[in-house]
Amino acid sequence: MCGIVGYTGQCDAVETLLNGLKRLEYRGYDSAGIAVTNEQSGLQMLKTAGTVDTLEEKIQREWPTSPDQRFTSGIGHTRWATHGAPSDINAHPHLDGSGHIAVVHNGIIENHKDIHSHLEELGHTFSSETDTEVLAHLIQECYEGELLQAVCAALQKVEGAYGIAVLTDYEPEKLIVARHGSPIVLGVNDNAAMVASDAPALVTFTRRVIYLQDNDVAVVQPNDITIRNVNNVPVRREISHLDWDVTAAQKGGYEHFMLKEIYEQPESLQNTVGGRLDWDLGTAVLAGLNVTPRDIADIQRVILLACGTSLHAGLVGSFYLQDIADIPAQAEQAGEFRYRNPIITTDDLVVAVSQSGETADTLAAVREAKHKGALVSGICNVVGSSIARETERGVYLHAGPEIGVASTKAFTSQVAVMLMLALKMGRCRRLSRRHGDALCRAISTIPEAIQAVVEKDREIAEVAQKFKDLRSCFYIGRGYAYPVALEGALKLKEISYLHAEGYHAAELKHGPIALLQEDVPVVAIMTDMPGKEKTVSNVRECQARYSPVLGVRTEGDEDTADIADYEISLPDVSHYISPITTTVALQLFAYHVARLRGCDIDKPRNLAKSVTVE
Ligand code: AGP
Ligand code: GLU
Repeated sequence: MCGIVGYTGQCDAVETLLNGLKRLEYRGYDSAGIAVTNEQSGLQMLKTAGTVDTLEEKIQREWPTSPDQRFTSGIGHTRWATHGAPSDINAHPHLDGSGHIAVVHNGIIENHKDIHSHLEELGHTFSSETDTEVLAHLIQECYEGELLQAVCAALQKVEGAYGIAVLTDYEPEKLIVARHGSPIVLGVNDNAAMVASDAPALVTFTRRVIYLQDNDVAVVQPNDITIRNVNNVPVRREISHLDWDVTAAQKGGYEHFMLKEIYEQPESLQNTVGGRLDWDLGTAVLAGLNVTPRDIADIQRVILLACGTSLHAGLVGSFYLQDIADIPAQAEQAGEFRYRNPIITTDDLVVAVSQSGETADTLAAVREAKHKGALVSGICNVVGSSIARETERGVYLHAGPEIGVASTKAFTSQVAVMLMLALKMGRCRRLSRRHGDALCRAISTIPEAIQAVVEKDREIAEVAQKFKDLRSCFYIGRGYAYPVALEGALKLKEISYLHAEGYHAAELKHGPIALLQEDVPVVAIMTDMPGKEKTVSNVRECQARYSPVLGVRTEGDEDTADIADYEISLPDVSHYISPITTTVALQLFAYHVARLRGCDIDKPRNLAKSVTVE
């Protein structure tokens, strides 16, 4: 989810690249770099941890401008780290061993370790911790005098999602770009051309753009662009007209970052799950956890520490761990944890769940757990964040930057990681190979299941119209749907400023039912899972108090047909992944209610994206 920019033409490539990168910083911003060349001088590269402004200052210091040395082609990158903490050396571009080939990359090379080992045997040495660097060396290994051929040969050995741009001073006017899972768009102009991972970088250069499709490889020169697939077969791609301004383009044409990030979830979940299922053993591969099967066998309890949306994901995780891994597990509100003198033993695995990795309450709770000798790990989205560093082991979400203050894709990725954690721990304990295989299959369907929910957006928007003026409402669910009820209520509160409470379905009759009346609707999660029929009874209890009920149900499920006053029907999925698909529907529901109410959805009043104060 980073920013890629490339340019080839007659203008100053350094200035063009920096301007383009600045428009992509919302896509990744922990480090940045450029590589440039021209007919006279070899490949020059400069990169740094920090922002594009940091890079610009470094360029001004180290590359004093001289009119006779204008670089006319180049590639640039703003990084959102997945492999290797943000640092100068891990920033892109990455060079091959000869220093004549530079690569920038968006995505994840899942088989990077295998390629790294193979190239080391051939004598290659590496300087960074990233997966990307192996690609630069692989292209060098495949290079036989023609860059396009070398890139195609290298990509045929790569597994995973990528959008790349490659530059060499052997062929200085030429950029090679390729797309597989991560977007690449070309900008067409007279006597010049650009490439980018997203359109905002191009809008001041041209309005004529070409969107590459998966497996396309393009050779981009100032007056010529050819596109073929990785098997070297020419393909035709239409020129589109870009009619967005910069801000609209940064949102990919969506009205809000939040909606863009909801729609991104099939892709972000693919990045979260990709390369992490071991189909041979029916288990999950979470290398960053850095625990052996024996360590796992010795763990007597798992404590999940988190706040807000991440706490709701942690609650789902605690259910998974008990149900699947047969291990005691509890989710704890991090802000309270260290003040109640919690019982923590050296047999505990403490997992801090945090999108930002900077939440003060969660970080403080982590320190308390470490101090008492627990084995501590993190589930974070931001590589190199404080919690990721202080837990020393853990699992990154790979969900890409989450700009909207209301968390969406981070939640679904956190839940997916915890399902994989439960699978991994379960398979080191009593979970059978057969059950492990079934879970691997269920996990692998998550991206397509989310896509099916996102395609119901219009239906959900219509239902939201009925609820935009509600005074107060309840969300109810049981089992895996209970944390989903909590998260659905939080989403509505956060962005529409309407009061909503998430409650266990069985708990409503122990008091809150006194609040039910005609203008207090109830959102009831009654998807097909154990306990569904009891939730249907709870719905009847609500309707008997004149509360209108919005039922979130499994399409085709006769047991829940014609029960609720309004309904959102979702695809039939394993009940283990229904917390993810149901939450996506409730994200869209909250989004449309807030949109209809004219709220500031991406920056809701009083809220911060990362709460770094206690
Ligand atoms: C989620 O929509 C909220 N923005 C908030 O509850 C958030 O989940 C909480 O502050 C925890 O943040 P973290 O995941 O970065 O630790
Ligand atoms: N996986 C690469 C890295 O960690 C690219 C990350 C990105 O998309 O910015 O450097």
